[in-house]
Amino acid sequence: MERRFRVAIVGCGQMANTWVDLLKREPDVHIEALADVDLDRARDMAARYGLEAAIFASVEALLDEARPNLVVDTAIPEARRAIVTAALERGCDVIAEKPFAPTRADAEAILDAVARSGRRYIVMQNRRYEPHLRAIRRAIEGGLIGRVEQIHADFFIGAHFGGFRERMEHPLLLDMAIHTFDQARFLLGGAKAETALCMAFNPASSWYDGCASAICAFEMEGGAVFSYRGSWSAEGFRTSWESTWRIVGSRGTIAWDGSAKPEAEVVVEGAEGFLRPYRRVLIDVEPMPEVGHAACLREMLAALRTGQPAETESSDNVESARMMYAAIESAAIRAAVHVADGSPVAPHP
Ligand SMILES: NC(=O)c1ccc[n+]([C@@H]2O[C@H](COP(=O)([O-])OP(=O)(O)OC[C@H]3O[C@@H](n4cnc5c(N)ncnc54)[C@H](O)[C@@H]3O)[C@@H](O)[C@H]2O)c1
Repeated sequence: MERRFRVAIVGCGQMANTWVDLLKREPDVHIEALADVDLDRARDMAARYGLEAAIFASVEALLDEARPNLVVDTAIPEARRAIVTAALERGCDVIAEKPFAPTRADAEAILDAVARSGRRYIVMQNRRYEPHLRAIRRAIEGGLIGRVEQIHADFFIGAHFGGFRERMEHPLLLDMAIHTFDQARFLLGGAKAETALCMAFNPASSWYDGCASAICAFEMEGGAVFSYRGSWSAEGFRTSWESTWRIVGSRGTIAWDGSAKPEAEVVVEGAEGFLRPYRRVLIDVEPMPEVGHAACLREMLAALRTGQPAETESSDNVESARMMYAAIESAAIRAAVHVADGSPVAPHP
């Protein structure tokens, strides 16, 4: 019996293992083909998982011969545009690793291909499927701290990956900050960023070729300001991979270290004085049946089965990606830019 999803995986590196593990659990998925520019990686993956899959060295050959209907792009970011547009143009839906695309031009080309083909492009943004983050969003929506006016996130992890990240021009912004930017939008109910101001830099001791550190400020739709400070070459006092968060509302603040239960301090009703008294609130965290990649992939497949938009559908996820393009564009001109198109923000008169 033919399965609903005839899947091809393009890019058989580290991350692809997670996808294969998860895809193998789905009864309506069959992995038909694998491609990698390094053929041995594709062969090894087939052997490791006992997959009866055809092996290809290019996405074009794979699309022409294996005829999948769903392409999983787990290759490096620089290859994303070519892989995704080729697959969409041949009538496949595509689900891909983050980031959406490494440049604004690539992202626009992918959006054009989605519009022309009528097919779907959905991005793995696994860090929004996190129970503490979801609990914070519920607390915000329930009015715990009033109107959110500031969000601050700090990310400091000295990460020695080797490989493609150490050669990227903007490894932190393109490969990691995208998660945090997307999480900030998630906390604000999906708000877009309107302007970006960023300094991206590479400390002398960094082992990356490109900018491993950045400081960014965004003005968000609805009026909140979101700041991000991050470094992939900072040794000592490591933050969690989710970042350390401070969410400041009109009546109080939520603090989250990215791993323990989030807490809030809220001004005691009717209190007066120089320093107002607070009540401490431990935010309830509901366990999720699945988190991260498992939860995001489950939602992607459900969205494809039902025809409903996924949380990380291209139309939404591109707004998180535009924050990183704008941050990079702002850093290049040392001035604020509009997130929508990268154009400079006029100075105050
Ligand atoms: N969501 C997450 O938490 C998370 C974590 C790690 C990596 N990632 C993402 O996963 C993707 C892959 O990262 P990785 O760590 O697995 O990298 P990797 O280097 O281990 O694997 C990438 C693979 O892509 C192959 N490749 C390169 N160009 C190709 C092309 N044109 N066609 C086919 N194959 C090609 C390489 O040969 C390699 O086997 C990246 O986009 C990365 O940002 C996401």
